[in-house]
Order: sequence, then structure tokens, then C-alpha cells
Amino acid sequence: MLLLLSPSFPKLIILHLLLFSLNFISSISAITMDNFEKEALLSIMDSMSPDRHWRSYSNEDPCNPSSSWPGLECKPGLDNHFHVTKLVFGTHPNPTCRSSATFPSQIFTLPFLQSIHFLNCFKTKKTTLFLPHSNFSSLQQLSLRANPALIGPIPPHIFSLESLQILTLSQNNLQGEIPEAISALSSLIHLDLSYNALTGKIPVQMGKLSSLVDLDLSYNSLIGPIPTSIGEMVMLQKLDLSSNSLTGSIPLSFKNLKLLIFLALSDNRLSGYPRPPNGLTNLQSLQYLFMDGNPMFVPLPPELGRLRRLQELKLANSGYSGRIPGSFTWLKNLTALSLENNHLSGEIPSGLGGLSRIYHLNLSRNLLDGVVPFNAEFLSRLGRNLDLSGNSGLCFNGSSNVFRESFDGVGVCESRPSSSSSTSNVFQPLESSSVASPSSRYHSTQILHWVLGFLSFSAIYLCICLI
Ligand SMILES: *[C@@H]1O[C@H](CO)[C@@H](O)[C@H](O)[C@H]1NC(C)=O
Ligand SMILES: *[C@@H]1O[C@H](CO)[C@@H](O)[C@H](O)[C@H]1NC(C)=O
Ligand SMILES: *[C@@H]1O[C@H](CO)[C@@H](O)[C@H](O)[C@H]1NC(C)=O
Ligand SMILES: *[C@@H]1O[C@H](CO)[C@@H](O)[C@H](O)[C@H]1NC(C)=O
Repeated sequence: MLLLLSPSFPKLIILHLLLFSLNFISSISAITMDNFEKEALLSIMDSMSPDRHWRSYSNEDPCNPSSSWPGLECKPGLDNHFHVTKLVFGTHPNPTCRSSATFPSQIFTLPFLQSIHFLNCFKTKKTTLFLPHSNFSSLQQLSLRANPALIGPIPPHIFSLESLQILTLSQNNLQGEIPEAISALSSLIHLDLSYNALTGKIPVQMGKLSSLVDLDLSYNSLIGPIPTSIGEMVMLQKLDLSSNSLTGSIPLSFKNLKLLIFLALSDNRLSGYPRPPNGLTNLQSLQYLFMDGNPMFVPLPPELGRLRRLQELKLANSGYSGRIPGSFTWLKNLTALSLENNHLSGEIPSGLGGLSRIYHLNLSRNLLDGVVPFNAEFLSRLGRNLDLSGNSGLCFNGSSNVFRESFDGVGVCESRPSSSSSTSNVFQPLESSSVASPSSRYHSTQILHWVLGFLSFSAIYLCICLI
């Protein structure tokens, strides 16, 4: 379009292009579907979706660009036929699923299929994942998400989908172990098995998935140690193993994950950092580190202060003892820090009050003491997103005259007498004015993270579609 608008673009070439594309369009509308594929498609549609009487629509060729078939994408092949390349079920405007729908094994009779999506589809009648036994190399994307009646194991012959780049099996009721054979899917970029009932250990062989950018095994019942081989997935940008029952320590091999942006290991039974912990300082791309809810019972590693890109750091509920390392005040981009419910003692490092982007700070339920080193600007910025409660040794500096009233369970230091009711209104506006703004800031920042995340994933998808 831009080219056409450009005045310098020779008119003859424009004409040529127009004629060419008209020619192309008319030749496309002349070609039809292969009969065998058309029949397979109709039988899949009839068994899956009650939305239409699909066969009565088949007078028009479903793949014809002028047809209005939802959830279907076709591409012309070298054989001068249209071929089904993508099927999507379960969400508007795509076909909705019958309540009795089960996984349609005929789907693998469509030889050019590149992309399959079932979202919120198999809901009542129990069904299992059927995969072809012989190589099915056209499929690049298999996404089965939020299907509560999809049960049973991930079949070991998953390796037959040898060209798979995206495998999403999240929020189903899949059981059993992750098959070792998954490691044969050497083109995988995105693997999401989260929110299922998978058991057993993470297969060591998974380290062979050296193209993986995104690995999510969260919310399953996986046990055993995190395999050292995960450190071989050097392309990883997102690794989420949270909410399992993983044991042992973080493997030292994680130091190889230099592109990692998001690491979540929360709510497991992990009990240690790699030895030496400075291996972690290699993770120089890391922006999100979530490790709360693990029985660490060690001092907080000061090395974490060298992860300069960190934006969110969650280390709550993990038995950490000792002081909050002064190095945490080097994390200038930090927006959220959760250290609640540990055994942290000593004073709060005064530099934390200088972190200009922070909007959420939870230090509650520790053994911290001394004067709270935050000024009025900091306190009003964080408002209710600051939680210092449950630290009996903490107090506010009464001489600075800002904190006459107790703040969220923290009193004024003893050198000054406790507040009287007449001074309480000095503090009141501060607290109430800070209620709305920091939380809306929290939300808008969350939304921004979301949008950025979405954009980067769309970019990955786009690349994949172009391949
Ligand atoms: C099927 O895939 C496997 C694993 O990728 C490969 O070793 C084998 O050669 C393939 N077979 C055929 C017939 O393409
Ligand atoms: C901190 O954030 C800013 C803005 O998002 C970014 O430009 C800068 O590179 C970040 N600093 C580090 C050390 O990541
Ligand atoms: C801080 O953590 C405690 C748990 O110890 C939780 O109850 C509280 O809601 C959290 N506060 C904020 C502001 O998130
Ligand atoms: C308390 O505040 C006063 C006035 O701002 C200051 O002079 C004093 O050093 C502070 N004391 C502590 C322990 O921070």
C-alpha cells in the first residue's frame, strides 16, 4: 500500500502488480479442495461442533477464500488443491464444541495440518489424547488448553510430531509422567504442560530441547530434583516450575541460562542455592525471580543484588535468616520485593527507601528492628502496598514529625511519647490519599508487563507462522 501511495513509484509497475494479483486471486478461486480431505474435514466438523449442519455448507468449497467457514485455514498446494492447514475449536468466532465432543483421531488424516487448537472444548465426556503412531511431520503447533475432560497420559509416541514447535497442553487433567520421548521434539520452542496432574520426575533427557524459549511445568505434582540438564537449554527466556514438589537445590548449571528473563520456582520443596551461589549472578537478563514458599533456611544470598535487571523479587515464606543484604539496594529497577514471613533480623537497609520504582514492599512477619528508614514521599507512594507489620522491633522516627500515628502496626520510636488523638489527623490524609494511587499504579504496571509479554509472544508466533 505504501508503495502504491508513493508518487515516485513507476506507474507501469503498479499496473503490472495489480494485474498480477488479480490473476493470482482468480486462479486461487478456481482451485478446489482434495475430495478426501474435504470428506475428512466434514466428518470432523460434524462430530465436533453443533454450530451448523456442516455438510449443507459444503456446496461452497470450505477452503475457498470467499467461504465463511469459521476456525479453518487453508493453503494452496503444489498439486493445485487447497489443503487444511489450521483448525481451531472452542472459542468464538471459531466453532464451539458439542458437550459430548471427544478428541477427533481423524484429525491426523489431514496430511497438511500445521496447527491444531482446542480451547475449553472437552468438558464432560472423558477423552484421551490421540497421537499418530507414524511420523506426522506437517504439524508445528498443537494447543489443547482448558479441557477438563481431557485425561490420561501424554502418549510416549509424541515424538511422531517431529516438526512440532509449539506444544501447549495446559489446564487439562493429564496424568502420568512426562514421557522421555518428548526430548525428541528438537524443534520445540514453546512447551507448556502447566495445570495438569502430571507426576514423577522431570526427565533428564529434556535438556536436549535446546531450542526451547519457554518451558512451563507449573501446577503439577512433579517430584525429585531439578535436572542439571535444564542448564543446557540455553535459549530459555521463561522457566516456570512453580507449585510442584521438587526437592534439592537449584542446579549450578542454571548459570548458563543467560537469556532467562522469567524464573519461577515458587511453592516447591527446594532447599538450597547452587554452590557457590554467585553462579546465579550470570543470569544477567533476569527480570522476574519468584522463589517464595521453599524451605531454604539459609541467609539471603547477597549475590542476588547483582541481578541488576530484576524488577520483581519474591522470596517470602522460605525460612531465610540474617539481615536483608545491603546489595539489594543496588536493584534500581525493582518494582516489587516480597520478603514476608521469614526470620530476617537487624535493620532495614536505608537504601531500600531510595529505590525509585518500587511500588510493592512486603517485609511483614520477620524479626526486623530499628528505625524505619523511609521518608514521607516513599510511604505515600507505596501506601497500602507497604507492609511492615509483625516486626515487633521496628519503629518510626517521631522527630521527623511525619509519623505521629502508628503505621500499619508499627509504632513510633520510644524517644518520643506515643501519639494522642489530636495529632492523628496529621497522618490520616497521608494514609487515605495513598490508598488509590499506588494500587492503580500497580495495576497499570501489571497491564504493561502483560502487554509487553503478549507482544513478545506474538512476535514468536509470527516468526513461527512465517516459517
Ligand atoms: C520418524 O521420526 C524419527 C524421529 O524424528 C526419525 O528418526 C525417523 O527417521 C522418521 N521416520 C520417517 C519414516 O521419516
Ligand atoms: C531499568 O529500566 C529501564 C527502563 O525500563 C531500562 O532502560 C534499563 O535498561 C533498566 N536497567 C537495567 C539495569 O536493566
Ligand atoms: C504481606 O504478606 C502477608 C503475609 O505474611 C500478607 O497477609 C499481606 O497481605 C501482604 N501485604 C501486602 C501489602 O501485600
Ligand atoms: C530522626 O529524625 C530527626 C529529624 O529528621 C533526625 O535528626 C534524627 O537523626 C533521626 N533519628 C534517626 C535515628 O534516624
